[in-house]
Amino acid sequence: EPNRGIDSLYRPLKDLRISVTDRCNFRCGYCMPAEIFGADYSFLSQKALLTFPEIHRLVGLFVKLGVEKVRLTGGEPLLRANITELIQGIKGMEGVKDIALTTNASLLSEKAEPLYQAGLDRVNVSLDALNEMIFRQMNGERSNVKRVLAGIQQADKVGLKVKVNMVVQKGVNDTEILPMARYFREQGHILRFIEYMDVGNSNGWNPMEVVTKEEIIRIIGEEMPLYPLDATYFGEVAARYRYQGSEGEIGVISSISEPFCGHCTRARLSAEGRLYTCLFATEGVDLRSPLRQGATDDELLQMMIHTWAKRRDQYSEDRGKGSFTRDKIEMSYIGG
Ligand code: GTP
Ligand code: 5AD
Ligand code: SF4
Ligand code: SF4
Repeated sequence: EPNRGIDSLYRPLKDLRISVTDRCNFRCGYCMPAEIFGADYSFLSQKALLTFPEIHRLVGLFVKLGVEKVRLTGGEPLLRANITELIQGIKGMEGVKDIALTTNASLLSEKAEPLYQAGLDRVNVSLDALNEMIFRQMNGERSNVKRVLAGIQQADKVGLKVKVNMVVQKGVNDTEILPMARYFREQGHILRFIEYMDVGNSNGWNPMEVVTKEEIIRIIGEEMPLYPLDATYFGEVAARYRYQGSEGEIGVISSISEPFCGHCTRARLSAEGRLYTCLFATEGVDLRSPLRQGATDDELLQMMIHTWAKRRDQYSEDRGKGSFTRDKIEMSYIGG
């Protein structure tokens, strides 16, 4: 197999993002607006979800294709029962160098210690504001700043590496850019600013609400001068910057103003076992059916190799070209 794990734009497969549930206890307007994800929204049923043994089997095969980093996402991954068992199983696999989780931290205070014990290396915590009113408005009145900060503190204390993710929306939380930068510089955690993206079809995305990487760097740089750093690894999503005269660093994820599809090494597995080769995909490949119908490892592997080999996705690079609309998968389903 000369082409094993290399797509048609010569990008290797390195990271696997696994959504373990499409449910979340928050209702962030840019992800799961409450008007759409209401009481009558139909989420995946329990039996539709891949079981842990099923996920383990698939991860074992993805590793053969080159996957080294595994990230658990959702929805909110900590809502999935016994997630520590899943982590333990993945941690034990040869070839997996890094296992991380992206969370809203509502349950992190309680779960940090068992997560670390299970072998989790790090967490990326979403927090969009330090101002309580702004934060609550953004998450649909579901949580409070104190709780998230307590979760971050506990994760750090037990030994998990922590990064903080802030989605920036103009007119909503752009006033929080500086307070967040100052606070997390002081705390010694990497804060990443994320350009508001047009994921899914529900968030009513408006390009006017995007605050670009350039603007973010200017706002922070005026008070705390920054200089750019090289990527930590090939395919890193965030552009890194360091504060002059200190060890502190930040990141900016500029999917809108400076797309990074050229080195995108990520595959996504939905909670029901569909394989997607882009965050903005419209269709995935069903791996659960063959899995449950008794496919051999080799048959599953061939499906994965074939899917990755023909991959041409570069949605963020093409976004500006023409006004094409498409029926995209929701972020809460595909896992960010
Ligand atoms: P690290 O391994 O810590 O660098 O994590 P990460 O930044 O890859 O993952 P995280 O879940 O923290 O995601 C941060 C933001 O980057 C989220 O808004 C993701 O949706 C976005 N993101 C991650 N991967 C991609 C991608 O392949 N394409 C685009 N457009 N956005 C991505
Ligand atoms: N644009 C940018 N980031 C988003 N996230 C969720 N929806 C969007 C969007 N529309 C972020 C979350 C979390 C990460 C997994 O994705 O805040 O930090
Ligand atoms: Fe939940 Fe994260 Fe989506 Fe907010 S961004 S609704 S916390 S999955
Ligand atoms: Fe990768 Fe698609 Fe994101 Fe581009 S838009 S970086 S191809 S997931």
